[in-house]
Amino acid sequence: MTRVLVVGSGLAGLIAAVRATDAGHRVTLVTKSGLPDSNTRYAQGGIAAAMFPDDSVESHVRDTLRAGAGLCDPVAVRVLCSEGPARVRDLIRFGVDFDRDESGLTRGLEAAHSRSRVLHAGGDATGAAIEAALVSTVRGRAARSPHDGGARLRIQEHTMLVDLTVQDDRVTGAVLLGPDAELRTIPADTVILATGGAGVLFPHTTNPSLATGDGVAAAWRAGASVADLEFYQFHPTALAVPGTPLVSEAVRGEGAVLRNVAGHRFMLDLHPDAELAPRDIVARGIAREMTKQGGQPVRLDATGLGRELLERRFPTITAACRAAGLDWAVESIPVAPAAHYWMGGVLTDIWGRSSLPGLFAVGEAARTGAHGANRLASNSLLEAAVFADRAVRALRQPVRVPAEVGAGSTDAAPTDRGRANVGSTNEGSTNEGSGAGVDRDTLQQLMWECAGVLRSGEKLAAASVTLADWVTRRADPDSATPLHMRIRAYEDANLLDLARVTVASALAREESRGAHHRFDFSAIRPELARSVVWSRGTSLVTR
Ligand code: SIN
Repeated sequence: MTRVLVVGSGLAGLIAAVRATDAGHRVTLVTKSGLPDSNTRYAQGGIAAAMFPDDSVESHVRDTLRAGAGLCDPVAVRVLCSEGPARVRDLIRFGVDFDRDESGLTRGLEAAHSRSRVLHAGGDATGAAIEAALVSTVRGRAARSPHDGGARLRIQEHTMLVDLTVQDDRVTGAVLLGPDAELRTIPADTVILATGGAGVLFPHTTNPSLATGDGVAAAWRAGASVADLEFYQFHPTALAVPGTPLVSEAVRGEGAVLRNVAGHRFMLDLHPDAELAPRDIVARGIAREMTKQGGQPVRLDATGLGRELLERRFPTITAACRAAGLDWAVESIPVAPAAHYWMGGVLTDIWGRSSLPGLFAVGEAARTGAHGANRLASNSLLEAAVFADRAVRALRQPVRVPAEVGAGSTDAAPTDRGRANVGSTNEGSTNEGSGAGVDRDTLQQLMWECAGVLRSGEKLAAASVTLADWVTRRADPDSATPLHMRIRAYEDANLLDLARVTVASALAREESRGAHHRFDFSAIRPELARSVVWSRGTSLVTR
């Protein structure tokens, strides 16, 4: 029996916790906020899987590879698409009530899918339905599994990951900041990071405020390899009102169209699939149109779908529109791109194993290679379910992923890794004084301007100098600082670390591919169809 620490309570973390408990491990599940608070909860469109007789794993594989713009790991994609249906059936067994009609499960179409294969629940509340079912399953396991005088699954909410502890190049546990404002080290044989992405790097994001990339930052500081960080996916259509709520791609799948302020359907000029072109193409099309119209959002016209369908199929979006004083059954609504999903993350193999023994990463925190340069719509929940399950199956034989998966190097590496000293601590050492003397709004604005939908080498280079300077001005929170400010300071330090590596990755990639588009290198360069991997402060350009 091993001690497993799972960090994060979205789909990936909850599946990992349940599976590991059921496999007989002693599991601690920690999460920064309440158990149901995660990015998963906000997922609308659904979960893609080849579940229907007119579909096939091959077709799902093809669509995923095509969207990924030459950067997917074909093995990871095959694992994702072939194990996906079984994992969806698991979710149904865990109590997820996917929408059905008289002929069975109903399915939607989303961009770059060659056929309808996206299952949804509660219309557009798929993530909320999955989260609720899994939270209830996890709470059930925690309540009922007595072991050694205690529960085999322990849940600690409102507990933030501060850093990983490493001994002899092996992850040995984590330093956590609990609700009592105490820093504690939890020893573990295995840590599974399921901490999600870092949408908060940008001022406009569909992610909740807790998406500050804590796990990826901690893994990087500890010395784990991270990859593909330059590929941040911007969802084309977030409602352009405060809070930037998501307007699912499924709305365009049902027939809604995009228009500029003059009413022209501009996507018809850009791609044969128009509004259902791959997500990166639609996001760039919108960004360019916004520039032409002085920054004003474009309009999503869903009026042709009719009130009944809009309210039944998209209750969450209907409510968001109403809260913003909009009636999308009779008027087009303002939309703009917003940071949505990180294709990059902790480099793992197809079993979730990172380059550091004892450390796994699953879900958005991981870079499995399944998404390449541009994730196919509704493959994220699927990836979380598939690879969390595999990680637990691999727990008994965690083998190191070679960090040197290729050759070549650049000298652009951000060498000062902030709290990097934690990566070589003796167990229990915590580096109490970490934080960022950086204003979050300023950081987000900088990231939007240099590493947003459209990028340039010049802006990226300038940003990299600015970010390096901010690192020298880190402010250390001490234990007398109120808890919410300490959490914020740790988050800001993580965002600063991640901004530096992301900008360095975007600078290193001198081409345009998938979600990464540079004015100064506007074409794809076939010879760069490989990942930028940062490993212990150096960049290995790899395949
Ligand atoms: C959406 O509903 O458009 C988002 C689905 C996804 O991000 O895959």
